[in-house]
Amino acid sequence: MYYPEHIIETIRERSDIVALISEYTTLTRKGSSYTGLCPFHNEKTPSFSVSEDKQLYYCFGCGAGGNTITFLMQKENMTFPEAIKYLAERENIQLEDHYQSEEEMHRNQKKQLLFEVIKDAAKFFYLSLRDERHNQVLEYLITRGVLTDSLKQFGLGYSPAEYNTLYKHLSAKGYSDQTLLESGLFLTSKNGGFIYDRFASRIMFPIFDVSKKVIGFGGRVIDGGMPKYLNSPENILFNKSNVLYGLNFAKTANSECYILVEGYMDVIAMHQAGFTQTVASLGTAFTASHAKLLKRYTKEVVIMYDSDNAGVNATLRALPILRSQGIKARVLLLKDGKDPDEYLRKYGKEHLFKLLEEAQPDIMFEISRIEQKYDIQIAEQKVMFLQEVANRISEIPSSIEQAIYIDEICAAYHIENSAFKAEVNNNYKKLKHVYKAKENEGGAKSRRQSVSTEVIFLSTLYHYPNIIRHVRKHVEPEMFESPLLCDLSRAIFQAAEQGEDIDMNYFTAHYPDEADQNIISHIIMNKDKRYEEQTILFKMITENIKRLKGNYLGKKMNDSKDANEKQKLLFQKKELDKLYIDFING
Ligand code: CTP
Ligand code: MN
Repeated sequence: MYYPEHIIETIRERSDIVALISEYTTLTRKGSSYTGLCPFHNEKTPSFSVSEDKQLYYCFGCGAGGNTITFLMQKENMTFPEAIKYLAERENIQLEDHYQSEEEMHRNQKKQLLFEVIKDAAKFFYLSLRDERHNQVLEYLITRGVLTDSLKQFGLGYSPAEYNTLYKHLSAKGYSDQTLLESGLFLTSKNGGFIYDRFASRIMFPIFDVSKKVIGFGGRVIDGGMPKYLNSPENILFNKSNVLYGLNFAKTANSECYILVEGYMDVIAMHQAGFTQTVASLGTAFTASHAKLLKRYTKEVVIMYDSDNAGVNATLRALPILRSQGIKARVLLLKDGKDPDEYLRKYGKEHLFKLLEEAQPDIMFEISRIEQKYDIQIAEQKVMFLQEVANRISEIPSSIEQAIYIDEICAAYHIENSAFKAEVNNNYKKLKHVYKAKENEGGAKSRRQSVSTEVIFLSTLYHYPNIIRHVRKHVEPEMFESPLLCDLSRAIFQAAEQGEDIDMNYFTAHYPDEADQNIISHIIMNKDKRYEEQTILFKMITENIKRLKGNYLGKKMNDSKDANEKQKLLFQKKELDKLYIDFING
């Protein structure tokens, strides 16, 4: 989908970069811009800066930079049109009908309406829990150790026991039966005669998507009723395999290693204890979609499922799924059948923190499970066990990692290192060509690009415009090889001549690429204070003009077939060496 310039312009003008980024990191005002800890890398002192009037961000630490659109592309892995859509929705900008099919428009309107219904329901549940008639429900949660702050943060509520209080409440607000039924909050009686609340008499856990909108609910019984949990059915808002409970909070923790648990209560208990990077897949198996979602935010996960058989099996199934998305996984199996919520209450957070640090690498966890299939006291079985382990180790693509695990295993099972290595290598050779093929699939893209001297040069011109009148005699925009830098230099020259700022809308619309936006941010946001010192400024400008123009003339000479012209170019190139003097003399 192609969006024309004026749409992008509207979105850029209306979207509030400070509000958007504040959802990921705390920003404080500092002069004309805002600073905070960088949401793209881990740091202790803020080197991340956001400019409200330029609508740009830039990190002096890791070099991440761009506008609201690239921010979403980098942080939420959105595509350009997805980011545009997201921002438009956020700012209530109607993307003209022309850019949406009839069907899409209809679907969006329905979505919007369902969001409203769900939000109203969440409010209703929230207030019901605080209604003194339902005091014993609140008591139950408090006895279970849920703090008042968590009740608020997670928006916990209660769906009253009478069969249709929510239905009455929402009907009175004017929602049609059809809309209410589509929300998943209601059921119809068998004969179709009446509509009743699906979740009546349950504690309600609102489920948020990553942009903090409620999209569904989980409801827990208070007594021993069955089923213990009930979730919203899937609809156009709610797709279980695309949502992780707690992710809306976890993503702001900016942690390098996430924690994956099983249940609602586990997530809440973990966040309460300070492990705010904890998420859960809800009553469904962990899927590749979950792993893809997680991958937007982290490269490493510790799985901490319940330590019963079901939990162990679920862990063994989740490991290859995480690996297939390139997420490094470790496992922490809590002893004696506890889930993280119970464990925290019994042993406390310091204890759990230690255990988490020592969580087993995925391979070691898998090996400990393989071991259980064999009686390794019996020689033959030990051989089979070790062969299966060797087989598993040979699947690890990194030979360094292989070596580490081989050492560990040989020590643990008292076997000869070289023999085991040979066994692994035999398997490894068979597999090698498979890895080669995989490596060649799509080259990894790295966000951090080294900044070229031309970018630094342009940035200096932008921030010290008084120098431009000297530079102008020597430099033409065409001398920059990349179209972006050529365009930017033209805009910077023009802006300086007219005493204006450059037209950011143009650059947002014409250079939507993340890499380009990163360069733009670098130039506009990165003022190097060293050049306030005139002599240093002149020196750097001179050097850059020499290099830029020198390269340009050199290339022209190579291309030229006319001896006369070549001569002229050579002369110009030689003249360049004297530039320093010319420069000072004006
Ligand atoms: N679950 C579900 N349906 C069920 C049981 C469980 O969807 N009938 C999901 C819920 O998301 C639940 C998770 O599986 O949070 C883990 O289940 P369980 O360990 O039984 O629940 P806890 O979260 O530990 O809840 P509690 O401590 O309140 O028993
Ligand atoms: Mn539990």
